[in-house]
Amino acid sequence: LTAGPLQGRHVLVTSGPTHEPIDPVRYIANRSSGAQGTAIAAALRDLGARVTFVTGPATVPPPAGVDLRRVETAREMLAAVEAALPADAAVFAAAVADWRVANAAGQKMKKDGSGQAPALEFAENPDILATVSRMGPGRPGLVVGFAAETEKVVDHATAKRARKGCDWIVANDVSPETGIMGGSENAVVLISERGAEHWPRMAKEAVAQRLARRIADQLIGQPVT
Ligand code: C5P
Repeated sequence: LTAGPLQGRHVLVTSGPTHEPIDPVRYIANRSSGAQGTAIAAALRDLGARVTFVTGPATVPPPAGVDLRRVETAREMLAAVEAALPADAAVFAAAVADWRVANAAGQKMKKDGSGQAPALEFAENPDILATVSRMGPGRPGLVVGFAAETEKVVDHATAKRARKGCDWIVANDVSPETGIMGGSENAVVLISERGAEHWPRMAKEAVAQRLARRIADQLIGQPVT
């Protein structure tokens, strides 16, 4: 039995949607299944990494053999990520809500008979990827973000890489005609300091294995955190 190339390395993966409460029984969510993040965590595990898997309420089950941290909200996800550091690499595959409800009710909201609809106010959530990318000491040696785009994928993802301060962006075209959102396949572009690398369309598990392999190649030669 040979040790995988990521033996002795700690990799953090975020996955799934977040749920942002409106009141104790209602929330705002998105359609992320967690499939790509789950596949990435499994692929990193298979290369020997110790994986911390921070997941929102996903529809696909989490992988076995990872350190599982379940969260609901974006703020809980950030806290779980910070608690899990240091890491040699971090992959941010979660679909984090950009906004939370600022005036969430402490009790279940009731119709008061007036016919007046409630007004939700929003507050901006922390950007977990940008926060970790811009950490000084303790920043993972490799920070990977995702970008779901519907047009000008390379331009938008290249701009996002600079804005967030991460090392790589895995960009995909989620226009409805691609069938990627919620589907079993993905066609991605890897944006790094070396430019844009187009990968052929393949199963999400194959994207995950290829990405995990690239992460291992990148970490070899970097000191262990
Ligand atoms: O800005 P946008 O949401 O398109 O960026 C997507 C990338 O940023 C993903 O890697 C996602 O996990 C990460 N992200 C985050 N925290 C947020 C919003 C996005 O970590 N609040």
